Amino acid sequence: MGFKNRVLVCASIESETTEEMVKSIGKAKEEGADLVELCMDSLAASSLSDVELLLKQRALPTIVSFRLRRGRVPRCRCTWKLDATSGRWLMHPCHVPVIVRAVGDRGLISQLLGPKYGAFMVCGSLGGRSVPGLPPLLSLKNVYELDNVDVDTKVFGVVSNPVGHSKGPLLHNPAFRYCRYNGIYVPLLVDNIKEFLRVYSCADFAGFSIGLPHKEAAVACCDEVDPLAKSIGAVNTIIRRPTDGKLVGYNTDCDACITAIEDALQERQTSNGEVTNVSPIAGRLFVLVGAGGAGRALAFGAKSKGARVVIFNRNFERAQCLARAVSGEALPIEQLETYCPENGMILANCSAIGMEPDVHLTPVSKEHLRSYDLVFDAVYTPRNTRLLQEAAEVGVTIVSGVEMFIRQALGQFKLFTNGLAPEDFMRKVVLEQF
Ligand SMILES: NC(=O)c1ccc[n+]([C@@H]2O[C@H](COP(=O)([O-])OP(=O)(O)OC[C@H]3O[C@@H](n4cnc5c(N)ncnc54)[C@H](OP(=O)(O)O)[C@@H]3O)[C@@H](O)[C@H]2O)c1
Repeated sequence: MGFKNRVLVCASIESETTEEMVKSIGKAKEEGADLVELCMDSLAASSLSDVELLLKQRALPTIVSFRLRRGRVPRCRCTWKLDATSGRWLMHPCHVPVIVRAVGDRGLISQLLGPKYGAFMVCGSLGGRSVPGLPPLLSLKNVYELDNVDVDTKVFGVVSNPVGHSKGPLLHNPAFRYCRYNGIYVPLLVDNIKEFLRVYSCADFAGFSIGLPHKEAAVACCDEVDPLAKSIGAVNTIIRRPTDGKLVGYNTDCDACITAIEDALQERQTSNGEVTNVSPIAGRLFVLVGAGGAGRALAFGAKSKGARVVIFNRNFERAQCLARAVSGEALPIEQLETYCPENGMILANCSAIGMEPDVHLTPVSKEHLRSYDLVFDAVYTPRNTRLLQEAAEVGVTIVSGVEMFIRQALGQFKLFTNGLAPEDFMRKVVLEQF
């Protein structure tokens, strides 16, 4: 059984019975594994004859392992060492080929970035199963395509906690390949962003998407911050500037949602024969629900376009604080339902209301949506929220959080790659996969 691929993909198989193990080997072959690791210690009972039987029936080259004490880090000569206190990886010279696998969620990058640092084999999990530290085999094959990763590959990633839900890898990795850009985008489970950026300071780690809960703390971690991101008080993208290695922070959320709303209004104006150079948001009453990261981005964006901003938020103090920052008004959330001082208002939901699993919730009832000219929902899981469905039903123009997601990701990709913007491709990936 010869190996064709440069990076070997190994399926780690844990089963309670030998029959299940045999089935899993077949499945591993179907999912593109080059070899399997049979974890004999996972069998309810095992003997030497089981090993013989499994080796006889094997459909792929096989590593047989037996861990005496699960979870114990073996002492060995290795290329990578995990510093357990900071989750830090150190590269060490190595004179013999070794296989190293860090377990747990923080160990995931030991597999995904292994080939960049010379690993000849990575391990994955079967059947799209989420196993801490192991990427699913199908994502190794379809999302990361590690055969393209080499020593020159630039590393990007989403810094977040939790990070497993992030759709970023599904979008940025295919986009890198589409543009023939030598990059990889990985999930980075991070507790302390300051410490993370201090440790991962080499030029290879070229840029990051910043997710919850780090967007605000990220501002203080940058050497320079774009003025808009500074006024918003949140950074969602950090680039390591290639010329001097300085960390520069940006906020692509703001531009993404404001341009999506502007484009929808402009499209309607154009079809009505109105042509103007002024932002269609200017002078309008902008009704914002939510005062978290997305709410702040939208409030500053709307203000910068000349809108009057009114903020409703569950935590009223937070609404007041944001209202002060954008010279707007804060009102108690109980008044939102019947708020209707004028026509032509824009409603923007930037709260988690309506987000999975609470898809039945909506911030404003259907009958009151008629007061608005446009309704935007930052929530993108589900794609078509109850708020958007009901707004469309009463004939109001709608803009979805998916549109914002596409645009903020496109903004990040341009910053990552110094200007590449495969918009049609990225739009297609999002609409097909999300
Ligand atoms: N489409 C995109 O690209 C994009 C980008 C960023 C965010 N988003 C979405 O926007 C939403 C907010 O994200 P974020 O980053 O701003 O989060 P965040 O900083 O954690 O803020 C959450 C906001 O939602 C409010 N909220 C949470 N649960 C609520 C509830 N049960 N009832 C009323 N209000 C509630 C919070 O109010 P309190 O202040 O009272 O806690 C706060 O205003 C999420 O659904 C997120 O997925 C979408």
